[in-house]
Amino acid sequence: MKIGAVALENPTVLAPLAGITNLPFRLLAKSYGCALVYSEMISANGLVHGSKKTAAMLDTLAAEKPIAMQIFGAEPGVMAAAAAIVEDGGAGIVDINFGCSVKKVVKTGAGAALMQDLARAEAVLCAVRRAVSIPLTIKIRTGWDPSGDQAYALCRIAEACGVDAVCVHPRTAAQGFGGRSDWSIIAEVKRRMDLPVIGNGDIASPEDALAMLAQTECDAVMVGRAAVGDPIIFGRILAVLEGSSPRLPTASERIEAMVRYLNASVAHIGEPHACRMMRSRLGWFAKGLPGASRFREAITRLRTKDEALEMIAWFAGRLGVVQFSDPVKIPSASS
Ligand SMILES: Cc1cc2nc3c(=O)[nH]c(=O)nc-3n(C[C@H](O)[C@H](O)[C@H](O)COP(=O)(O)O)c2cc1C
Repeated sequence: MKIGAVALENPTVLAPLAGITNLPFRLLAKSYGCALVYSEMISANGLVHGSKKTAAMLDTLAAEKPIAMQIFGAEPGVMAAAAAIVEDGGAGIVDINFGCSVKKVVKTGAGAALMQDLARAEAVLCAVRRAVSIPLTIKIRTGWDPSGDQAYALCRIAEACGVDAVCVHPRTAAQGFGGRSDWSIIAEVKRRMDLPVIGNGDIASPEDALAMLAQTECDAVMVGRAAVGDPIIFGRILAVLEGSSPRLPTASERIEAMVRYLNASVAHIGEPHACRMMRSRLGWFAKGLPGASRFREAITRLRTKDEALEMIAWFAGRLGVVQFSDPVKIPSASS
């Protein structure tokens, strides 16, 4: 699959997840074979007004390329300026958020609100298209009603404005993340458009990824929540695409993923910050394993990388995982 001039090695994509898909998490997903990673949504206003915290969200490394940086906003001029900043920052793809249905975002006219205001959506798309030469993608929902008509209309506009691919999360704005996603909307977008389509929604296993590719004929699958405690899913999806039987991640793989995530976080956001984050995040990888609640309780106070490794070693021992050091080196800033 190609998005503009950017060729993807395989059809797996990490979803943009606010508060989660920062540089360390994206490197983690990449290390399991994910072909394309998306940043968290980044405020166009924040970028344009020089917010340091927002600018830090553009941190990237060659090792995670290609990367799509996602921006949100409602003002065409501001979105265009923000997209240019994203391009200058080294992103391979810029993505516009048309799906966020959180009140705080929608009331500014951004995110899913743009699916109700197609004239503004068109102005934003065309302004951003003119501002950058890197590929442009959009991430949309079904719209505000379940028919899909707003999605199809927005896709037609996007195609005319020169968008290079569309990612469809087929839930209505009102659904948030509840209920089921309606994959028939992805299939219909694919049928109606010539652009590459990335399908998203409720992929919880390699079997689901395969089913979405088969049922919708989308070009790639995007995984969000399932990758949070199980970034290994990308490798398992690839194995299934190559003919292996689907399987769950082993305890040993989950322990390795913890070590990999810890290392990447310490390397890229510093030990104190990384350890504060790991107090809840390492627990994601332990879900359902025997002793997980004791492990989660133990990590709530961790302060150093050595303490984290000690607790992981204790948990690994309980699970009968003997060798838990991570053989894969997560790239550092100098690589
Ligand atoms: C915690 C969280 C944060 C999210 N942040 C974003 C975001 O920043 N931008 C975006 O387009 N979608 C965001 N989403 C939506 C996901 O990208 C994805 O569309 C949705 O979770 C459905 O996919 P899944 O079933 O694989 O999780 C977020 C979802 C969750 C649960």
